[in-house]
Amino acid sequence: MQVGIVGLGYVGLPLAREFVGGGVDVIGFDINDVNVKRINAGKSPLKHIPDEHVSEMAKSKLFKATTDMKQLSKPDAILICVPTPLTENREPDMTYVATTCETISKYLRKGQLVVLESTTYPGTTRELMQPILEKSGLKAGKDFYMAYSPEREDPGNKSFRTGTIAKVVGGLDKKSLDMAMEVYRPAIEHLVPVSSCDVAEAAKIVENTYRCINIAMVNELKMLFDRMGIDVWEVIDAAKTKPFGFQAFYPGPGLGGHCIPIDPFYLTWRARQYGMPTKFIELAGEINTDMPSYVVARTMDALNEHKKSLKGSKVLLLGLAYKKDIDDVRESPSMELIELLVDKGAKVDYNDPYIPKTPKMRMYNLGMKSKPLTEKSLAGYDAVLIATDHSDYDYKWIVKNAKLVVDTRNATKEVKTGRKKIFKA
Ligand SMILES: NC(=O)c1ccc[n+]([C@@H]2O[C@H](COP(=O)([O-])OP(=O)(O)OC[C@H]3O[C@@H](n4cnc5c(N)ncnc54)[C@H](O)[C@@H]3O)[C@@H](O)[C@H]2O)c1
Repeated sequence: MQVGIVGLGYVGLPLAREFVGGGVDVIGFDINDVNVKRINAGKSPLKHIPDEHVSEMAKSKLFKATTDMKQLSKPDAILICVPTPLTENREPDMTYVATTCETISKYLRKGQLVVLESTTYPGTTRELMQPILEKSGLKAGKDFYMAYSPEREDPGNKSFRTGTIAKVVGGLDKKSLDMAMEVYRPAIEHLVPVSSCDVAEAAKIVENTYRCINIAMVNELKMLFDRMGIDVWEVIDAAKTKPFGFQAFYPGPGLGGHCIPIDPFYLTWRARQYGMPTKFIELAGEINTDMPSYVVARTMDALNEHKKSLKGSKVLLLGLAYKKDIDDVRESPSMELIELLVDKGAKVDYNDPYIPKTPKMRMYNLGMKSKPLTEKSLAGYDAVLIATDHSDYDYKWIVKNAKLVVDTRNATKEVKTGRKKIFKA
């Protein structure tokens, strides 16, 4: 068997590794020429994926990356792992999926299986992909086969990897499902077949909506409990000792990443076509989107206690990535925090051990470089704002040397001395 993986990013690259580990021949397809060359040279294009993972694949003779889409006619199965962002109007941007399908349709041959892994709204495989792929002149379910199997990758998570996370699989029909199950078996330990692509698409979006809503709830509770003089993190730690019926979610400076702030709005968009609003999602979106403003207000309160105004103050933001121990800044609330602080007249620097300079993004082009952390530099800031709780940071040392610490992640939980300097936000 040979598998083709289209999109060698956060999802596609670890997936390729699982197949290679399972002894399957893999062709990786990507339009990013630089990354394809890097991967073939055994180097990882992503910080949290070690070079060894990629060099093992490159050396194994079971893997080759290419930009040559003509080769799409070779593999028995094509797995699509391309981005599914939102447009500026916060509607699904399906251009990557549609363009990939257009390309596949040019080279599609009889007997091939095409599986979408990208997160999307229920109905995508049938309504968007099938007609594009059938431009090939081949019929789905008769000449070629289709399935949807969502990725549950969690970059930086040391307890799980792609192959050990149960994987939901839905087929366009029985034959498609059977083929998809057979394709994934060598790579994934536990497969969960469901009755249709729509169910699999809905399952993924429910998982991410569940996170989005629960995070919004604890973010709101953080603001409420702060007024009551209660520490929300201590409350959650206490509540999670209940052995059933409660799952801990944690507040933060806002929502980030390619999934949780975005995917629920795919469902909102789809729901509108059925004449239904998704009130929970909208409300969660409102609360999560407001969090950076709350953090800035808390920073002003903290500076006020030190008889300082935010305007003119020097603020060091720690952590640009949207979550700890990775280099991914997509949708990271840190960007908005910097912008809001600068708007209010603060002089802002940042440090992130994983991100030496701010990348150019769709909505931000900050043009900043990560500042080194030293005792002297820390002491030079009026406030140090912890936006991402990277494990590399020595929080005891940071609190010791900073004048004031605004902590949005409870990263300073274990710090015993200097607690008067810490403001939770
Ligand atoms: N990042 C995660 O943690 C995660 C987790 C679960 C699901 N997902 C979903 O998986 C999908 C992919 O996300 P990602 O984080 O891997 O994105 P990514 O941006 O890291 O990788 C996507 C890759 O696809 C390539 N690409 C774009 N258009 C292409 C085309 N037409 N042909 C070939 N290659 C193309 C890009 O060059 C890039 O290398 C998204 O739908 C996302 O929501 C992501």
